Amino acid sequence: MPKKNNLKVLFVASECNPIAKVGGLADVIGSLPKALDELGIDVRLALPKYGVIDNKKYPSKLVASGINVLGEKINIYQTFLPESKIIVYLLENEKFFSENHIYFERTAFVGSFREIERFLFFSESVLKIFDAISWFPDVLHCHDWHTSFVPVFAKIKKQNIKTLLTIHNLANQGRWNKKEILNFLRIKGNELESFKAGEKDDLNIFEQGILNADILNTVSKNYREEILTAEFGEKVENSLKKRKKDLHGILNGLDVEKFNPKTDPDLKINYSPDNLERRLENKTDLQKILGFETNKKIPILGLINRLADQKGIDLVIEIIPELVKMRVQLVILGVGAIEYEKKLRELCQKYPKNVSSQIKFDAALAQKIYGGIDIFLMPSRFEPCGLGQMIAMRYGAIPVVRKTGGLADTVKNNKTGFLFEKYESSELLKTVKLALNVYKNKKAWAKIVKMAMSQDFSWQKSSKEYLKLYKKLAI
Ligand code: GLC
Repeated sequence: MPKKNNLKVLFVASECNPIAKVGGLADVIGSLPKALDELGIDVRLALPKYGVIDNKKYPSKLVASGINVLGEKINIYQTFLPESKIIVYLLENEKFFSENHIYFERTAFVGSFREIERFLFFSESVLKIFDAISWFPDVLHCHDWHTSFVPVFAKIKKQNIKTLLTIHNLANQGRWNKKEILNFLRIKGNELESFKAGEKDDLNIFEQGILNADILNTVSKNYREEILTAEFGEKVENSLKKRKKDLHGILNGLDVEKFNPKTDPDLKINYSPDNLERRLENKTDLQKILGFETNKKIPILGLINRLADQKGIDLVIEIIPELVKMRVQLVILGVGAIEYEKKLRELCQKYPKNVSSQIKFDAALAQKIYGGIDIFLMPSRFEPCGLGQMIAMRYGAIPVVRKTGGLADTVKNNKTGFLFEKYESSELLKTVKLALNVYKNKKAWAKIVKMAMSQDFSWQKSSKEYLKLYKKLAI
């Protein structure tokens, strides 16, 4: 049994794997609490009870009902994070959460006031549940713009509770007309000094969280430095600079039990750094699944990601004709922007022997790809932390990544992967060629694969850094 340290922390977020997942945020919310629980923290979660949540898979019981929030009523259900005893509170409200979406837009970015309303409503609701659940957390750990108004409300209400805001993706901010926001919240706008910030007539919800949370952090040390600059600061760098002293960088970890090639049930055959020949069977299996020539010597490159600008998909598309000339195989798995999906489908039709575009969300296929490809592409424009490159290394797929954000913090050039600096397709191509050259040398490649597979990407170290922040807040 872990030693209790009497700390009570409530995670407040819009996603959580596997209950309600869209992107990397969900992976963090679904795995970090388990590591914190092991440190003896009483950690619980609060999420909206979206219509899309599968009640059969995640049965919940009603623990409180009829709580008044902004003229509406909410009910509180309780379930558990699967394979744990961690309590998850699901906040129910027909008007705002019953739809079958986590986000309304394909891109997951804000596209309408409806999106703004539901997360403001959720944020306000969270501060009203403590009496009903008879549990009073020391720290509210909020994530991204969706829950950035929790610190704002806590301050306005002078609630005796501390807040930590984690920045996972600064590009998605929740900007909207200030008047509409204030009307919806039934406040005047003179309650806090921070309401003066923002561009034109807009209020930026993320920026308000940044200005009002007690402590801030983002998900890698390098991204922490980057967002203080105009290049990566997404127009809120000045507000971030004001909070520089309170802004930390803590690298995300992985759920290393789930992402483990020794036990992964989706692989054809399990393997470890000691029996890498077994990995080749997964490669053959993948080639069959994708309809590629089955040949262990042909290098397979892979990309698994949201097909979004952030992820550098345009660079990959540009180099595909060159890759085809080099007779490599390339698989792309993901969904996202329509124009990328279309282009990738076309390229797959044009080069069926070399390119397989899997335009879908398929978690099992993703694991087979990690376990079968040789090189993993992640040429992101920016990357707060990134999960794919860590999973890839753990599975012995060598990452070729851009030297930015968490990619720069997790991939060691020429040791566990290959990095390039400039956001240009010629740079990506040059680096892929470099990797392919090393690949030809079996011994040198095996050394890199083993080194990559032996990196520690668990939450162990980072969860202790979070504990330190919580303690600092709770004193
Ligand atoms: C966002 C970021 C990604 C990060 C994830 C979890 O999706 O884009 O880099 O790994 O959040 O923090």
